[in-house]
Amino acid sequence: MTELSGPDAGRAEPLLCLRRVETAYGTSQALFGVDLDIHAGECVALLGRNGMGKSTTVKTIMGLLRLRGGDVRWRGRSLRQFGAHQIARAGLGLVPEGRRVFPNLSVRENLLATARGPSRRGPCWSLDDIYGMFPRLREREQNLGCHLSGGEQQMLAIGRALMTNPELLILDEATEGLAPLVRGDIWRCIELLKRRGLALLVIDKNLGPLLRVADRHYILEKGMVVWRGTSQALQARPELVRDYIGM
Ligand SMILES: Nc1ncnc2c1ncn2[C@@H]1O[C@H](COP(=O)(O)OP(=O)(O)OP(=O)(O)O)[C@@H](O)[C@H]1O
Ligand SMILES: [Mg+2]
Repeated sequence: MTELSGPDAGRAEPLLCLRRVETAYGTSQALFGVDLDIHAGECVALLGRNGMGKSTTVKTIMGLLRLRGGDVRWRGRSLRQFGAHQIARAGLGLVPEGRRVFPNLSVRENLLATARGPSRRGPCWSLDDIYGMFPRLREREQNLGCHLSGGEQQMLAIGRALMTNPELLILDEATEGLAPLVRGDIWRCIELLKRRGLALLVIDKNLGPLLRVADRHYILEKGMVVWRGTSQALQARPELVRDYIGM
């Protein structure tokens, strides 16, 4: 099998490139030819109402759902033949919907469970870096995942994904169900990661912060991309927000 972390196959290509991606749950098709690009250092938002295919797109990228058609390319190489573990090791980090921290491991153990050596290209995250970004996690270092608040679990889920030293971080509803103050902490963290040059794919129900932080947006409707463009272009089209995002 080809080594995924080998030299670039196509430098001109975006970091991540989806072409005509189709995914199904059994006989029920959820994605109908999704095209999406993310360039190095770019922050891209994936928008759309409930059930439109945002999480399905993310799971397909991460190899958690099988591609039914089309292709996902990472640095110019098709990910078709690779499993979820290999895809994660290639530099794609996921903060999944619902957080999913290990409930019976401490904060420290959760962070170390996914820790990996530095990638050739990405920044290298240490425990101290994560605690520097989220001081609350240092205070809770010995507490079990199941004893954390929702906000602390979300910080831990982000920290855990960063400990894999990703080049692209995907956040699926990272501020969902959090108090406004904690939401603010998560947005500040996302902005910091962007400033550090990490490529980001962000799914969130809060359009205001997304318009500020994202370079480009894709709107999904019933498993299809119906619009793509910059924050400025989206702000000029309030009917898109009304019809397809409903925020
Ligand atoms: N495990 C599953 N089995 C069958 N169908 C599913 C499954 N998960 C999602 N779907 C269906 O696939 C479609 C896309 O769902 P998806 O979870 O990707 O939406 P979403 O845009 O992430 O929505 P939300 O904003 O609610 O998270 C929906 O019609 C949904 O009912
Ligand atoms: Mg979802």
